[in-house]
Amino acid sequence: MIRITKPGRLRLAVLASGRGSNFEAICQAIEEERLNAEIVLVISDKKNAPVLNKAQTRKIDFFHIAPEDYPDKAAYEQEIIKRLKEYDITLVVLAGYMRLIGKELLKAYQWKIINIHPALLPSFPGLNAQQQAIDYGVKFSGCTVHFVDDGVDSGPIIMQRVVPVLPEDSAEALAERILIEEHQVYAEALQLLAKGQIYLDGRRVIIK
Ligand code: GRF
Repeated sequence: MIRITKPGRLRLAVLASGRGSNFEAICQAIEEERLNAEIVLVISDKKNAPVLNKAQTRKIDFFHIAPEDYPDKAAYEQEIIKRLKEYDITLVVLAGYMRLIGKELLKAYQWKIINIHPALLPSFPGLNAQQQAIDYGVKFSGCTVHFVDDGVDSGPIIMQRVVPVLPEDSAEALAERILIEEHQVYAEALQLLAKGQIYLDGRRVIIK
């Protein structure tokens, strides 16, 4: 069994491609002292991602690192790793980062990269998870905070929240209901890491 983090203030890097509502929720949890952490760095693969403006407003260092500027994924991720090392981060938090994490990053930050997915994994991994849930006809969906491994949304599960799927739900309506839970559970999972309470036993996450 391995302990993921020792107790102490987390130094977080957020990787995001878009809106950044989870980024905002984490910032708020820090402000309200529900989470013992600091977001020291925001990185986006998308130049115009709103999350970059949000970082700027909050005076958090941010970088746009464009994959197309690098010969391959390994080189692109090496650039990200360089930044992460510079800022001495403890955890990489994916918040709507729309790329698969490659070998380089996984190796450099093994079990130190976490993601939130808008479904109850292992159901409905990948894109359009809310639409997948509606199309399948499940009565409940939700969100999952998990460690990132080399699969698609397949890493060890840290926490989940359940949300009902209503008969008349559109993907947007369901996404909105799930997002409310995402914003809570991501900060809660991070706080468990800040308290050093998260252990990994095979693919089972043990909360002590
Ligand atoms: C969230 O639904 C999250 O579960 C998924 O991407 C979305 C990101 O939203 N991974 P935001 O950028 O945090 O608002």
